[in-house]
Amino acid sequence: MKPNGSRNQLRATKILGISAFYHDSSAALIVGGEIRAAAQEERFTRKKHDHHFPVHAIDYCLEEGGIDLENLDYIGFYDKPRAKFDRLIETHATFAPASFGSYLAALPLWLRSKLPLHYELNRALRNRYLGRYVFADHHESHAASAFFPSPFQEAAILTLDGVGEWATTTLGWGRDNRVTLTHEIRFPHSLGLLYSAFTYYLGFRVNSGEYKLMGLAPYGEPKFKDAIYQHLVDVKDDGSFWMDQSYFNYCAGMTMTSDKFHRLFGGPPRKPESFLTQRDMDLAASVQLVCEEVMLKCARQLHRLTRMNNLVLAGGVALNCVGNGRILREGPFENIWIQPAAGDAGGALGVALLIWHHVLAQPRSANPKDAQCGSLLGPQFSSDEIENVLKETGACYTIITDEDDLLERVADLLSAGKVVGWFQDRMEFGPRALGARSIIGDARSPAMQAAMNLKIKYRESFRPFAPSVLEEDADEYFDLKSYSSPYMLLVAPVQGRHRTKSTVDARQLMSDPDLRRRVNVVRSDIPATTHVDYSARVQTVDKIRNGRYYRLLKRFKEKSGCPVIVNTSFNIRGEPIVCTPQEAYRCFLGTEMDALVLENALLLKEEQTSLPSAAVESYKQSFELD
Ligand SMILES: [Fe+2]
Repeated sequence: MKPNGSRNQLRATKILGISAFYHDSSAALIVGGEIRAAAQEERFTRKKHDHHFPVHAIDYCLEEGGIDLENLDYIGFYDKPRAKFDRLIETHATFAPASFGSYLAALPLWLRSKLPLHYELNRALRNRYLGRYVFADHHESHAASAFFPSPFQEAAILTLDGVGEWATTTLGWGRDNRVTLTHEIRFPHSLGLLYSAFTYYLGFRVNSGEYKLMGLAPYGEPKFKDAIYQHLVDVKDDGSFWMDQSYFNYCAGMTMTSDKFHRLFGGPPRKPESFLTQRDMDLAASVQLVCEEVMLKCARQLHRLTRMNNLVLAGGVALNCVGNGRILREGPFENIWIQPAAGDAGGALGVALLIWHHVLAQPRSANPKDAQCGSLLGPQFSSDEIENVLKETGACYTIITDEDDLLERVADLLSAGKVVGWFQDRMEFGPRALGARSIIGDARSPAMQAAMNLKIKYRESFRPFAPSVLEEDADEYFDLKSYSSPYMLLVAPVQGRHRTKSTVDARQLMSDPDLRRRVNVVRSDIPATTHVDYSARVQTVDKIRNGRYYRLLKRFKEKSGCPVIVNTSFNIRGEPIVCTPQEAYRCFLGTEMDALVLENALLLKEEQTSLPSAAVESYKQSFELD
């Protein structure tokens, strides 16, 4: 009887993974090896990239699983703080006395929270958890988050980020229920930190503005690529690299780049929010190209080492969807899968899965659709809960229980050029909105991009929005090599047949020094989602993962003939993606969004009482700009 009893116990084993104290704190729960819940702390505290201990995310995961803290079997932490502290000390010793200021600045948090982590964990968990803590290597957590939920029984593994304990890049492989990392590149040599150094130099915020740099790159020419290779980073054919630290300041100082870096590129860092020059765009294009080339070299080396057909990726650099797209199209692997929460949030999921498969030696059968459940792993709100919220707020709404009717109404609104807040199902885990907390619109409208940016997101952006496309129609519009991109982590070229022929006027506009004018050049018949280089950050939408969102796209296609819509995150600039119906309603009222769909409830803007302009202003001001 005992073996059966053990098996039954294992089937109910409850493991909580935690990522905290750097950026994007999060929690994840797996029960009997199944991913039950995962969420970033920022969604609950409303503080973007919140790095604090994820008490709210933990509470949510436990509630979702119907579990008390006392009943958890294991808690895993996504990295090893003591090894990180060794790095801090060793780096300080190497760069002293210049590093003294940054060392002193970092010390209080280390002494208060990171070093006495057991104590801190017990305190934060109100001394209610008496089980075992497991601490995993940072990159092992990334690797586990990439491989275990992937649709592959075996795959090569590539992790790339700023830094974990020491590693910044790791190569390895996963097979069945094991991940093995065989090669690594160590701090201070880091592709993530190289990219972040340029993010800083171009006036964007490190650890959040990298996406802006990637979006800026297509406007530039990689004129500084040779300078980067000659002076900053020496890259070998096997993808290994070495960075000249005299150009950087992240080891010794409080900034990313040194005066030598500034001299090399002709001036001090760009002031945030200031005019973007052609030189800024050329710098962005240059470091983006270097990043892609290193990613490709690493992928090729990994293929030489493993001879496997599949590749999985995680780590913050794996959010570089342009690089991912190039690996898919040009790299030697037949298939790739990228952890949707590729940054440090995903480490919480990785360490939980490591405990299940490595510590408990549980077997694994890959799910051909992947085990990430569409990354819809966050809170969901019932129709009753939503209606109660709407009643309390005095909103004017219509409940449409017949889904056909609801989809018909929303497809009509989209076809009429309206911007719709779409709140359905469980909230996404990871940085992208995938049709559960999204703002959507007609991708064919040339005015949509500007309208969404200025009236909804409150930003002047040079980035186009992402397209959601029916999976079965993706190849018609995008060169994805028949591959699906359910997590919006691949950039692909728009097919030639959908591109707009360049006119004299368009060419003239494209040479306008003001980037805001170039943004409006129509590049395809889905202009709101097509970048200036004819690329798009694609989300393929399928019946199994996306349910109602898929059916909405189907209905929109029936009406319009177009299977593509704009999908942007449900938030304004600086705001974490909305989690609750209250937050969605506030965003709806505080912007010029035309309609809001909260599960079965449809709200039209013209039927609502407007917010006073002071309230709108206070909403806009309540988030720190990213
Ligand atoms: Fe990381």
